[in-house]
Amino acid sequence: FNASFALDPAHVVAPVHRRTFGSFVEHMGRCVYTGIYEPGHPSADEEGFRTDVLDLTRELGVTTVRYPGGNFVSGYRWEDGIGPVADRPRRRDLAWHSVETNEVGLDEFARWCAKADVELMYAVNLGTRGIEEALDVHEYANHPAGTALSDLRVANGTKEPHNIRMWCLGNEMDGPWQIGHRTALEYGRLAAATARALRAADPTIELVACGSSGAAMPTFGSWEATVLEECYDVVDYISCHAYYEEHDGDLGSFLASAVDMDRFVAGVAATADAVGAKLRSRKKIQISFDEWNVWYLSRFQAEPPSAGWPVAPRVIEDQYHVADAVAFGGLLISLLRNSDRVTAACLAQLVNVIAPIRSEPGGPAWRQTTFHPFATTSRLARGNVLAVTMDAPSYETARYGEVPLVDAVATHDPSSGDVSVFAVNRDQSSPAGVTVDLRAFGGSLTVAEAWTLADDDLRASNTVDAPDRVTLHRTPDVTLDGTLLRVPLPPVSWTALRLS
Ligand code: AHR
Repeated sequence: FNASFALDPAHVVAPVHRRTFGSFVEHMGRCVYTGIYEPGHPSADEEGFRTDVLDLTRELGVTTVRYPGGNFVSGYRWEDGIGPVADRPRRRDLAWHSVETNEVGLDEFARWCAKADVELMYAVNLGTRGIEEALDVHEYANHPAGTALSDLRVANGTKEPHNIRMWCLGNEMDGPWQIGHRTALEYGRLAAATARALRAADPTIELVACGSSGAAMPTFGSWEATVLEECYDVVDYISCHAYYEEHDGDLGSFLASAVDMDRFVAGVAATADAVGAKLRSRKKIQISFDEWNVWYLSRFQAEPPSAGWPVAPRVIEDQYHVADAVAFGGLLISLLRNSDRVTAACLAQLVNVIAPIRSEPGGPAWRQTTFHPFATTSRLARGNVLAVTMDAPSYETARYGEVPLVDAVATHDPSSGDVSVFAVNRDQSSPAGVTVDLRAFGGSLTVAEAWTLADDDLRASNTVDAPDRVTLHRTPDVTLDGTLLRVPLPPVSWTALRLS
């Protein structure tokens, strides 16, 4: 079957925001311990950070990293993780039923971020704690010197402030599973008061209020409205979290997960704008999609709760296959398409825990299937997101109704002239012949690179024994005939092209 669209450099949706390619490191499972940090590992540097994981993090093209949670943060005492490591307490982590050794804390993580060349995005605990502790960690992290907590940071070996720009006001406070879960009004007031206090310390920081933990939450919509009515003037972002999985063999719906993400963003943007209109505000609240991924959550929920209090247990180490990577590539297309509202996003998580990077204790690190669409999209999406009006046949899905068989987004970098196209074919049996009309660019473009992720075995994945079983292949038979680009997309595939 055929699909087509036209691109025009004048039809700009929004700039590509580098923060769209953020990720997330939570003190959960093996994300920190034996993930980013493993003293004694053959690749560990002098501070105990795994350089094999650092190399893969850089290759992934991650820009910002949210830390330290997640559900973990709602019971976390940030000061447990500073000062001499030998003096740090071991504590129960009630969110993941494990023991937190606190060997890694804010200063270590900030040093890891500098090595990985990523921006640190910090979440404060508004579960068991409140305004005072948020101010304390801000003073410790960002105040230059000359106060009790900034001097403590200097005494602990970090002279320059960490200068963290983005602060999350708690995590998933709408979720009954969250320690310190609150109603929307309770949370909205706490978020507003915390935001005002933090802004009194530094009016230039960017603040993220908790939105819904998922569009299926019973409070979705009313949560955002109530929270924003309380804190609209003092926050910059409302968060969205969404995880997708294939339910009961319904691959058709799963491959169309981006449709749900589009609708989620549209719903939150409309709700935020309604509050803004009511408040007669000119300000637009942005969306921080600070947890998104494929996650086989129903399998995790079906497992018995973990016994005992282990350190760094194996938790939700989902092994991704080809179809997961195609659905995942579609989610990246949705995030880019929504760049007029989604100006920050975090792939949850970075290493081992539902992650694009896997590592074994004492062993190797490798790329999951989902690593490839992320790394290539982060590398090629530059400049401006362009509008795409897709002309493609559609199919019926059980979850999302009728959806197009092909989805795509494109970017144009006015400084280099490069045009990048990202596309998925959701059809399970037929290849798609996609034509892209490039007349608006004149006739000077050529195909610089074209990559496809597809496989006859949709369930193939990368493992410690076969780390490169699934990887990108050069897209065969791409042609650019004058100003008409033709790209063949295999069934259930993700493709990225750069024209220069
Ligand atoms: O990313 C795993 C968990 O998912 C996070 O801790 C929580 O915020 C979300 O429910």
